[in-house]
Amino acid sequence: YNLQPLTSFGVPALVKGFATFDSLDSLQELLAEATGYSQSLILGGGSNMLFTKPYDGLVLHNQIKGIQLLEEDDEHYYVQANAGENWHAFVQYCIAHNYAGIENLSLIPGNVGASPIQNIGAYGVEIKDVLHEVTAWHLQDKCLLHFAVADCAFGYRESIFKSQYKQQLAIVSVTFRLNKKATLHTSYGAIAAELEQMGVHNPGIREVSEAVIRIRQSKLPDPVVLGNAGSFFKNPVIEKSHYQQLQQSFANIPDYAAGESHTKVPAGWLIEQAGWKGHRQGQCGVHSKQALVLVNYGGASGADIFQLSQQIIDDIQQKFGIELEREVNIF
Ligand code: FAD
Ligand code: EPU
Repeated sequence: YNLQPLTSFGVPALVKGFATFDSLDSLQELLAEATGYSQSLILGGGSNMLFTKPYDGLVLHNQIKGIQLLEEDDEHYYVQANAGENWHAFVQYCIAHNYAGIENLSLIPGNVGASPIQNIGAYGVEIKDVLHEVTAWHLQDKCLLHFAVADCAFGYRESIFKSQYKQQLAIVSVTFRLNKKATLHTSYGAIAAELEQMGVHNPGIREVSEAVIRIRQSKLPDPVVLGNAGSFFKNPVIEKSHYQQLQQSFANIPDYAAGESHTKVPAGWLIEQAGWKGHRQGQCGVHSKQALVLVNYGGASGADIFQLSQQIIDDIQQKFGIELEREVNIF
């Protein structure tokens, strides 16, 4: 099987086995029948993966659909979405029902089931802020596990699903605790300026979502047009003393707060400063509008993109003494 059309980078992605499931029962049946595979992985929307060589295992495509309101109290709605629901469609569903809290996460590609894996985040909001519970099937132990938010070990682009439980679970549904009364997050990045430009003076969740969509469309490439997986690297978190030292040579180096002793530096800035923005190498390159995004112009292999990413890592290490870490899941 070739997963090229199911993954946003659009590189050849040969896998030994492939099957789709649309319920927990059908997943269990598949697992019982599928013997002879040494490893397996779950595929969601394929928007945060890079296959660098053929995968000698079984890929299980999660297509469990459905959204339901489980309960509500004075302040919250508890909304459960099954893993195979498209993330942005779920965000729009919530906006239409006036369930507040995930409007800043509009237009993030992929499915609901993957949202807790790297604790998806954008424009000042992360999934951990509104997550209530994750339900997952343990592939080896054959049992259902429930994770409350405190069990998920969430961090910046991190969770227990990416570390301790890596490739061991199939997340089947995620329950969100959404707000009846919206608390808008408009201070991050260009949201306020975008709302201003839209002529909106009294925004609600719909307008914030619209502003986020406009900002994202202005700099992030649409995977349908140009293969990519969003930010290829994480923004590195460095010691404050290191940051102050870099300021001596790079007076304009931007920073985000990251606690008492550390600072987060935008990797896109580092990569741009190092001269990589817009760089093309064969059929892949560094996006011209956002240096943190590596792109496939069509015809690149996963190995080509991986190799480019290694060159960037080495160069940033040499120029800034910072080791970039890949955000995209490499197979
Ligand atoms: P996939 O790529 O299918 O899978 C990702 C990983 O999760 C894999 O390891 C896979 O095995 C595992 N997995 C998937 N589903 C399940 C499941 N049900 N159970 C167990 N394991 C599973 N991310 C952000 O956080 N913020 C952004 O702003 C953002 N912007 C992006 C913009 C673009 C243009 C693109 C292409 C990507 C962007 N991303 C962003 C990354 C991506 O959208 C997220 O990581 C998203 O959550 C991936 O979802 P997916 O369903 O496509 O996951
Ligand atoms: N910058 C540059 N040059 C560039 C790109 C960025 O100098 O080419 C600098 C600028 O100073 C800019 C700053 O970096 O102000 C931040 O850029 P941007 O707002 O585009 O965000 P980012 O830090 O590059 C992060 C996330 C995105 C998320 C946005 C918005 C990571 C790894 N990436 O990107 O998430 O959408 O913030 O919140 O944290 C993803 O994870 O795939 C992703 C797209």
